[in-house]
Amino acid sequence: MPDNAKLKQARDAAARYGQDHLFNHLDGLASAEQDALVDQVLSVDFEQLAGLHRDLVTSQAGSASRETIEPLRATPWEDFSITERATLANQGMRALREGKVAAFLVAGGQGTRLGHNGPKGIFDIGLPSRKSLFQLQAERILRLSRQAGKTIPWYIMTSEENHADTTGFFKERRFFGLAERDIFFFKQGEMPVVDADGKVLLTSKGRLSMGPNGNGGCFLALAKSGALADMKKRGIEHVFFYSVDNALVRVCDPHFVGFAINQGKPAASKAVIKVQPEEKVGVLCLRNGKPSVLEYSEMTEEMIYSKTADGRYLYDSANIAMHLFTRSFLEAHAGASLPFHVAHKKIAYVDPAGNTVTPPAPNAYKFELFMFDLFPMAGEMAGLLVRREEEFAPVKNKDGVDSPASARALLLDLHHKWAVAAGVSEEELKGKLVEISPLASYGGEGINTALIRSQLGNPIIHVS
Ligand code: UD1
Repeated sequence: MPDNAKLKQARDAAARYGQDHLFNHLDGLASAEQDALVDQVLSVDFEQLAGLHRDLVTSQAGSASRETIEPLRATPWEDFSITERATLANQGMRALREGKVAAFLVAGGQGTRLGHNGPKGIFDIGLPSRKSLFQLQAERILRLSRQAGKTIPWYIMTSEENHADTTGFFKERRFFGLAERDIFFFKQGEMPVVDADGKVLLTSKGRLSMGPNGNGGCFLALAKSGALADMKKRGIEHVFFYSVDNALVRVCDPHFVGFAINQGKPAASKAVIKVQPEEKVGVLCLRNGKPSVLEYSEMTEEMIYSKTADGRYLYDSANIAMHLFTRSFLEAHAGASLPFHVAHKKIAYVDPAGNTVTPPAPNAYKFELFMFDLFPMAGEMAGLLVRREEEFAPVKNKDGVDSPASARALLLDLHHKWAVAAGVSEEELKGKLVEISPLASYGGEGINTALIRSQLGNPIIHVS
């Protein structure tokens, strides 16, 4: 049973913002549930929520945007000469060798769209090795840190809903060979879910409906959790940000690190050319002259199909969620207040009569922060255009495009090419699947052709 003063404080806070309904079912709750409800109500910033709901209503009334949007040009890696590429790669490797680079993964999302109940990173895309997305990433980090002769610390953001499953998965698998002390897990923040009138939904009689506050919650969480301070203590200067759902992500890629250091800006982004104008990805852009990302949902038809004088699509540089930030930039701006974006979703809730309602149509609004809303604060950003088939195999949907099957095919195709580039002929590999462990090769280097040839009798060639 909550003490009276605390209960009154919570009731008053809710009542002030028209959220009295949160206590509709209080009397029927067990004492511990009542305590939890009161604590949850007291943790909500109703003032902020009321402001967000107001914005929602006014934007629905149609406020014209006065933003100017232009494309942000990324430099193709191919534009560098062989010598320049080697110099950049050496520069990146030096930073890794000096222990100045960390990996920063945002993994607060769930695999719901994949039909997978749990953290996306534990998803197995069906490779012959049956490795999860987390394992592929861990092994790339391990390989690169062995090459550099230095540990690469790994900062992993989870959410309330997947933290225990994520950390449990890593523990069970002994952190995939990495040292536990070099992996720092921390949770992102949450936001209440509201209905069209701005009322917070109840997910059960004693619990508010909450959701992760979007991947842009990562910066504040980085600071609040002590992860940023840990980076400083370790002498990290460059932080490689990435998303969990790309089977080909080159975590802490030395080429990119070298490129970003060389450009000398507070932030850098990798991009690939969109596969088609309608592809559901954000594109790098300048918003009011500042670096940003334009989400596909924000693009007008005109923007989607506009072309340059040389026949390319104007907005063709897809954001593949790989960025490099200087630690000092993150320290200066981690606490910045970013704008919330609204998502209209179908979310089950408990009604005033105490019944759980599963709505037939979207009924709820979720407020989410986007990580790239931090970009403008960098003032300038460097973009690097890389080859899609080498670096981007998104795992978003259950089937079809950007699915486990398409990501698997992309990865196996790349490994096949690595084997051919190392000297094994197409003829020898005909009808075979080649999977090369990240522990054996990070980006196609050092392929053991003898090992591949020794397995030519099998339909699956696995180099570990
Ligand atoms: C994101 C980008 C999009 C880009 C695409 C490339 C955003 C808003 N959009 O789209 O521009 O083209 O990736 O694949 O970033 N996550 C959290 N916490 C959350 C929500 C998401 O950690 O509250 C993580 C996910 O676990 C994932 C990453 O953010 O690692 C991106 O996921 P998601 O927000 O679903 O982005 P997309 O819509 O795929």
